[in-house]
Amino acid sequence: MKYSKIIGTGSYLPEKVLTNFDLEKIVDTSNDWIVDRTGIHQRHIAAEYETSLSMAEKAARRAMADAGITPADIGMIIIATTTPEKIFPSTACLLQQQLGIGGCPAFDLNSSACAGFMYAFSIADQYIRHGSIKYALVIGSEVMSRILDWTDRTTCVLFGDGAGAVILGQSNEPGVFSTHLHADGTHKDVLYLDSILRKPMAVEEALSIKMSGNQLFKLAVNILGDLFDETLAANSLNKSDVDWLVPHQANIRIIQAMAKKLDLPMERVAITLEEQGNTSSASIPLALDKAIRDGRIKKGETLLLEGFGGGLAWGSALVNY
Ligand code: ACO
Repeated sequence: MKYSKIIGTGSYLPEKVLTNFDLEKIVDTSNDWIVDRTGIHQRHIAAEYETSLSMAEKAARRAMADAGITPADIGMIIIATTTPEKIFPSTACLLQQQLGIGGCPAFDLNSSACAGFMYAFSIADQYIRHGSIKYALVIGSEVMSRILDWTDRTTCVLFGDGAGAVILGQSNEPGVFSTHLHADGTHKDVLYLDSILRKPMAVEEALSIKMSGNQLFKLAVNILGDLFDETLAANSLNKSDVDWLVPHQANIRIIQAMAKKLDLPMERVAITLEEQGNTSSASIPLALDKAIRDGRIKKGETLLLEGFGGGLAWGSALVNY
């Protein structure tokens, strides 16, 4: 029996930091409101020359160095992004070219928004378990700052830019115990980014996130609670078996509710939200990389990864690190 295992992680954050106090000068908001309602203090914003591709490449090279492999070893590249370099070719194909490798499958997952990384991770896991590839490069990379309406205080304070990458490699021991994916299109209007391809509309209208924050908040708490039950039951494990929660970083209150559901103290939750905001599909690998590199997550520990986003789409993975 073959499994996949996380053998390397890497990340990249743009240098520029935008604090809540900076935002007070842009929209009618306050540091206190943002911290109190979301937990966010600051976020990173891509420089003009930075893109989802350039950030993905930096995160990918760090993850490969961490795993001790070279680009030639990679058997598949998946990039989860709602902010791709181009509509096509995929950001993954462009990255493949920049890494100097050809032939392996490379594609973007741009339809699952903040759940995109869990979708990409699950697909890579299936291919490795099946034995068709040995190493997969799985990335979440986002320039969310370019799809925000900077006059809309209900959304522009929430998001940030960055990229995170994971190398999954084949292993004889688990690794990834299981992954779980779901979607429910009946909630399509709760969170969306329109497209100028659907009908003629102003670029600013098409390229800005629309979100019913309150509704999404309630949906997320219910959906994730059920997802945890499903994930643990599939592995005949109890919540006391989980050492770390590595959640999508949307709102500290959602994360606190999820930690409570697992009876985990907040010290056992990988959080980057305070400094990074919501980086959409990059948030899970960014949080994972940080907690591994600073030594909090240790080899052999059991991690529960979860993400949810526009669709609605949501997913989880239970992992022995
Ligand atoms: N600054 C000050 N006031 C604000 C701001 C702001 N930035 N934004 C909204 N307000 C005001 C509202 O106008 C409202 O005022 P009113 O009472 O006079 O009408 C008041 O604050 C309360 O607004 P709510 O929307 O009810 O605030 P809430 O407590 O729900 O917090 C938030 C909003 C932070 C968006 C929360 O609902 C949330 O985090 N939801 C989940 C979002 C999420 O999960 N996103 C993840 C998916 S993202 C993806 O997939 C790409």
